[in-house]
Amino acid sequence: HGEAFPDAAPDTDFAEAQARQNAWDALKQVRQNLGNTYLPIVNGEPVNTIDRVDSVNPSNPEEVIGTIGLLSLEQGDRAIAAAKAALPAWRRTPASERAAILRKAGDLMERRRFHLCAWMMLEVGKPLRECDAEVTEAIDFCRYYAEQMEAIDRGYNFDVAGETDRYHYQPRGITVVISPWNFPLAIPTGMTVASLVAGNCTLLKPAEVSSVIAAQIAEILVEAGIPPAVFQYVPCKGSTVGAHLVKHPDVNTIAFTGSQEVGCRIYADAAILQPGQKHLKRVIAEMGGKNGVIIDESADLDQAVAGVVQSAFGYSGQKCSACSRAIVLDAVYDTFVARLCEATRSLNVGPAEDPSTQVGPTIDATARDRIGEYIAKGKAEAQVLVEVPAPETGYFVGPIVFGEVKPEAAIAQEEIFGPVLAVIRARDFDEALAIANGTNYALTGGLYSRTPSHIERAKAEFEVGNLYINRGITGAIVSRQPFGGFKLSGVGSKAGGPDYVLQFLEPRTITENV
Ligand code: NAD
Ligand code: ALA
Repeated sequence: HGEAFPDAAPDTDFAEAQARQNAWDALKQVRQNLGNTYLPIVNGEPVNTIDRVDSVNPSNPEEVIGTIGLLSLEQGDRAIAAAKAALPAWRRTPASERAAILRKAGDLMERRRFHLCAWMMLEVGKPLRECDAEVTEAIDFCRYYAEQMEAIDRGYNFDVAGETDRYHYQPRGITVVISPWNFPLAIPTGMTVASLVAGNCTLLKPAEVSSVIAAQIAEILVEAGIPPAVFQYVPCKGSTVGAHLVKHPDVNTIAFTGSQEVGCRIYADAAILQPGQKHLKRVIAEMGGKNGVIIDESADLDQAVAGVVQSAFGYSGQKCSACSRAIVLDAVYDTFVARLCEATRSLNVGPAEDPSTQVGPTIDATARDRIGEYIAKGKAEAQVLVEVPAPETGYFVGPIVFGEVKPEAAIAQEEIFGPVLAVIRARDFDEALAIANGTNYALTGGLYSRTPSHIERAKAEFEVGNLYINRGITGAIVSRQPFGGFKLSGVGSKAGGPDYVLQFLEPRTITENV
């Protein structure tokens, strides 16, 4: 019995020439502002750092987007101390005032929509339409969590005659947000604003390679009125300073989105009681996927091909929600594969900021090389059906489809996070479901079918957090498709859903005999 979220932002209609013009004008303006230095902001002030790193355009690594100052351990401790000092006033600030700051941040993002798109095209190589949808998601997170917090703040009244019984929520304390690079605006915004609106002082540690975009988030939050030290922008190296923040005894909550390996490390680190620590930490960890789409014999194959291609190769397969396995019933395998190959062959691979590009680069040389290793493994264990050529300059990998992949093969089991699709043949629907469920992950999944009994069985038996029927499996919309998985895909409630903000709060019961 959910209610529609009335403030949802629309995506841009790029069929309008003016919208396209605005986007390319913003790109030109952003290009004139490349190469600046972005320092961490501790207690409201930029702090100088010894270590710095350049963030580059993955479509053309010679283009430096900005230089990031990397926080040291000692500066990390100062940031936590500042957050601790700011906490009493922030937790007393009425929820409606905190929510107003989020709404203002959402409005600022709307005003800067095309500039934010330009930063994303350049810093993480994401094509325009996907950047635009990401700006929408970030705005929606601000508005939706603001609305959620105001509702949560009303609490509950369980009074009986002679006794008041009140149930309400208080902030947990200090949150460290650790975000990935693949949704460099929406994901850090969502985790950060949910924590802030709940009354927690919050440190944002973005992925190293997307820290310039995260600096735009910081600028927007400051302009929206977030007090110094309530929010701090703390770019740093994850494995050293990030890990130090996770272990800090004054941290109460860690909101992480990223790989399974790092998520498990953080979960373990956060569980160890540190000297002086008087509480247990909560870890929200949204991790990877090995998402499968089943295509049965009754599927509309035109729809299935388009959905699988978009889900597998959109943003070069670098989405936790991406389709990396197409599980196709024997009866339609050959027809589906022939059409899938044609559609894949027609994809334009090129720089993200080129308007005709459908598939941009991968994020960096490490990712490109790791994906290359999986492709080599795939070539040893399955058939290459199509491999699209990719530009030489930049971190490009051409989309590749493997056929007759065994369900237990490495390319069918491990998250590759690139434009690599494994097509697996299934004898019947029972086997298809078993294959779909046969990984360590449970994030997204899809079914193309016009058979009601198959659709009902998928609803009951397909083990994923987000199941999509007869459509693509990426692009969840805030409040319409709350997003997140289980098994080794993560722990915590769904982003953009009704339980998300509750994770940053402690419930309390107060009973008074009257
Ligand atoms: P990653 O795990 O390598 O890094 C994520 C963040 O963790 C970065 O900010 C990094 O600096 C930091 N980090 C690394 N080691 C750390 C440590 N020991 N302690 C503290 N922080 C540390 O992930 P990535 O490459 O940035 O992102 C890709 C991964 O994210 C994929 O696995 C993808 O599936 C996942 N992801 C999941 C979701 C979801 O909602 N489930 C959404 C987007 C991405
Ligand atoms: N929320 C993102 C999607 O649904 C990851 O694609």
